[in-house]
Amino acid sequence: MSEPEDRRRMVRAPTSGDPAGRASADRLKSSRKHTASSQKWLERQLNDPYVQRAHAEGWRSRAAFKLMEIDDRFGLLRSGLRVIDLGAAPGGWVQVALKRGASAVAGVDLLPIDPIRGADLIEADFTTPGVGEQLLDLLGGPPDLVLSDMAHNTVGHRQTDHLKIVGLIEAAADFALANLKPGGGFVVKTFQGGAAGDILAHLKAGFTDVKHVKPKASRSDSSEVYLVATGCRVERGR
Ligand SMILES: C[S@@+](CC[C@H](N)C(=O)[O-])C[C@H]1O[C@@H](n2cnc3c(N)ncnc32)[C@H](O)[C@@H]1O
Repeated sequence: MSEPEDRRRMVRAPTSGDPAGRASADRLKSSRKHTASSQKWLERQLNDPYVQRAHAEGWRSRAAFKLMEIDDRFGLLRSGLRVIDLGAAPGGWVQVALKRGASAVAGVDLLPIDPIRGADLIEADFTTPGVGEQLLDLLGGPPDLVLSDMAHNTVGHRQTDHLKIVGLIEAAADFALANLKPGGGFVVKTFQGGAAGDILAHLKAGFTDVKHVKPKASRSDSSEVYLVATGCRVERGR
């Protein structure tokens, strides 16, 4: 499962290296600061074209490219939309939503997120009662789009990790279905074998279209896939 790798896969300028910010292989090899696994992670980061592009183009995470690909295919984002982003740190998806015209974005993460102009970002556990309402208050109206890229820290115990994955997907899906404007959209990160059939059935009942998507920017060795649900059918008389 890839989520711990993904967790802090933000784009940071290396603190050492040549003037373009690239660390030399020798320097990497000799660094005593890195454990074997963190050195492997760093090497992969430095060789990852999406990380390089994100750094060059000013996106906070390589994850930004996943949302751009999803949006290019499904046309979810446009001017004036209100967007809620669950698991928003370090902020790549928030940047994409704003860049593509969202008029209001409210985001939450367990981790602190550096401010982004035009977005209201809070540090909290989304599954804590009241956090969803706080996001809705910050947004100033019902969302047109709910995004969830939430990924928990795996503990390495298959059943426990599965329950945690399913718990986050369910929490995000319930929130989306309870609060989206009719016609709204929902994107949620899941993992192969992660979204149980009943969640899928729940989404299929609540949206006119539900698709699994594996963006090119999602690493091929990661079991991550996204569910993209469009056309929320829930009518609430708003
Ligand atoms: C893959 S990262 C999100 C990257 C983000 N989409 C971006 O573009 O920068 C997943 C995030 O989910 C957050 N997360 C996991 N469980 C959460 C929870 N219960 N509440 C809020 N955030 C959570 C993690 O802290 C982590 O920062």
